Amino acid sequence: MTIRIAILGAGRIGQVHARAVASVPGAALVAVAELVAEMAEHMRGQFGCDIREINQIAASDDADAVVICTPTDTHADLIEQFTAAGKAVFCEKPIDLDVERVRACLQKVEAVDGRLMLGFNRRFDPDFMALKAAIDEGRIGDVEMIAITSRDPGPPPYDYITRSGGIFRDMMIHDFDVARWLLGEEVASVQAAASVLTDAEIGKLGDYDSANVILTTASGKHCMITNTRRAAYGYDQRIEVHGSKGAVAASNTHEANIEIADASGYHRPPLLNFFMTRYVAAYANEIAAFVQALTSGSEMPTTGTDGLKALELAEAALQSIETGTAVRTQ
Ligand SMILES: NC(=O)c1ccc[n+]([C@@H]2O[C@H](COP(=O)([O-])OP(=O)(O)OC[C@H]3O[C@@H](n4cnc5c(N)ncnc54)[C@H](O)[C@@H]3O)[C@@H](O)[C@H]2O)c1
Repeated sequence: MTIRIAILGAGRIGQVHARAVASVPGAALVAVAELVAEMAEHMRGQFGCDIREINQIAASDDADAVVICTPTDTHADLIEQFTAAGKAVFCEKPIDLDVERVRACLQKVEAVDGRLMLGFNRRFDPDFMALKAAIDEGRIGDVEMIAITSRDPGPPPYDYITRSGGIFRDMMIHDFDVARWLLGEEVASVQAAASVLTDAEIGKLGDYDSANVILTTASGKHCMITNTRRAAYGYDQRIEVHGSKGAVAASNTHEANIEIADASGYHRPPLLNFFMTRYVAAYANEIAAFVQALTSGSEMPTTGTDGLKALELAEAALQSIETGTAVRTQ
């Protein structure tokens, strides 16, 4: 059985997902919809897929599923359109920037018994999966405290920032999801701090570029998340989980796994520079998981509810900054 997939939006993440679809056994890339003609042509040239309008794809008999890679403010409408058309949907995070809009969208998906997977790729990173497996196998006992470091090498374009919903809804939303996944309990309170430290223009656009959050569960487990839009040494993606019997950590991925020692010290190659290279395996794994869920009829591994819960934590973080206090989420 082959799942025939169309890509909506051939930008940064659309190109990554197109490569994943083309490489996953049991999936075929049949079409792309993209507003910029040259980008659509580029994808057709690479993968031999058709170029179609979004409405044509919704009406196409030869597309079983879509991967939504258009800007965030289009996601909820497209999820509703395609699930109503009977297509399975993989959608990039976030579903929308407004919690009520997300709830309304998920109700519509449920009403048509739609299949929806959210693009929380970090759950599919091989290192983070091994870390989660170590927790689930009881290797570190009960989880007590988590530290998630997530630093981008540089900011996205300013026009992306204005549409993205800001650092919490756009960037830290991944870390909120990872936190929920690893804590194994829902978050009961959120305490946040945020500043503009790296680029004054980001502040003028109403966003922050540096943020730290402490999540606390009802039983008192903590997760600390640190984000910045600038790390001079590359894309810094690390997790450490401390438990009652030990700790497990996933460290950074370098361009090569070597270390050179000389008279001036020990030197390693740079970190993989950004998400397009660092999370290649995760993106391929998440598309494979989507295809597997459709082929087998099993539950989606990351759901619309996961998307909603992560967005609620982003909202609580923003509220915490406004009020200067911890915000209860349960
Ligand atoms: N999971 C991740 O790691 C990750 C990484 C980057 C982006 N994202 C998410 O993916 C989405 C896209 O981000 P991006 O960085 O790829 O943006 P982008 O601007 O590079 O790409 C979006 C593309 O969609 C096209 N587009 C816009 N409206 C369209 C429409 N109606 N029909 C067809 N094409 C349309 C644009 O022309 C553009 O090429 C965002 O929601 C973002 O949050 C997720």
